[in-house]
Amino acid sequence: MQYQKRKRIYQSLVASVMVLCLAVLGFAVWLLFVPNAHNRPVVQTQTDIEEASGTATLPVETTANQFAAVLTGNTTQLAGAADETWTSSDETIAQVDENGVVTGLQPGRCTITGDKGDVYQVAVRHLEQRDGCTYVDDILIVNKTYSLPETYDPGLEPVAEGAFTQLQAAAAAEGLDLYIGSDYRDYAYQVKIYQNYCDLYGWEEADTFSARPGHSEHQSGLTIDCNTIDDAFGETPEAAWLAQHCAAYGFIIRFPLGKEHITGYQYEPWHIRYVGSAVAQEIQQYDLTLEEYLGVTSAYTEPWQG
Ligand code: DAL
Ligand code: ZN
Repeated sequence: MQYQKRKRIYQSLVASVMVLCLAVLGFAVWLLFVPNAHNRPVVQTQTDIEEASGTATLPVETTANQFAAVLTGNTTQLAGAADETWTSSDETIAQVDENGVVTGLQPGRCTITGDKGDVYQVAVRHLEQRDGCTYVDDILIVNKTYSLPETYDPGLEPVAEGAFTQLQAAAAAEGLDLYIGSDYRDYAYQVKIYQNYCDLYGWEEADTFSARPGHSEHQSGLTIDCNTIDDAFGETPEAAWLAQHCAAYGFIIRFPLGKEHITGYQYEPWHIRYVGSAVAQEIQQYDLTLEEYLGVTSAYTEPWQG
């Protein structure tokens, strides 16, 4: 009797060990074969998306090293070899012709691949106007093409202020001093600033570094100028740190060096714009301006009438 009891205990112990071994084996197989479950190329959690200022579409899993954005119903030209043949991974989102011209059909993401090694992450965007403001995939865009109403008056947005406080603390932990030199400006204040520059330099010169009233991102409440607003700031360790780390806190350097023809403004190493960390990190990853990321232009259609 005693022997039978011991035998049953022994058998159930062996069974438990076997079940445990099978479970460990199953988990190892899952780790090995579930595609990208533990190796995602781009950090994009739902929290990231919600924390961003809009609902910009998610990147697709891809090896793309280039990026193109286009509004629905618009076209954009991809850069590639003259005789490159292109293929879209989803022709309901974007089509591409034999010349590398992409047409955006509906909001979403796809990959467009050329047979000469070019791979583009393509975002098709939705632009809409609400209360006189323009949003692309729900991201507020303010530039030379798109203005804000005179009455738009949010003050410094708490989301930008909170993110800057965290950024500032991280910089301070490394012995660097980043502070707000200028943030929210209302329409009336921008009238004074721009007019002053027009008086000093003429409107054509002023347009290269100062926004016309209604066209300044400072009026959005999502923009901060760090420290001293002059070219010397660009040479400081603070500026280097800011360029490297601001995306982690949801900011982008809004007017980068070498992209003046796209943004319409001279390089401003001090001027950061809050877009949320998911968007900022994708912009940094592909070395883009906000215009390139959203697929929009930045240009005035008229000379200043002042
Ligand atoms: N300096 C930037 C372009 C502004 O005036 O908003
Ligand atoms: Zn600024």
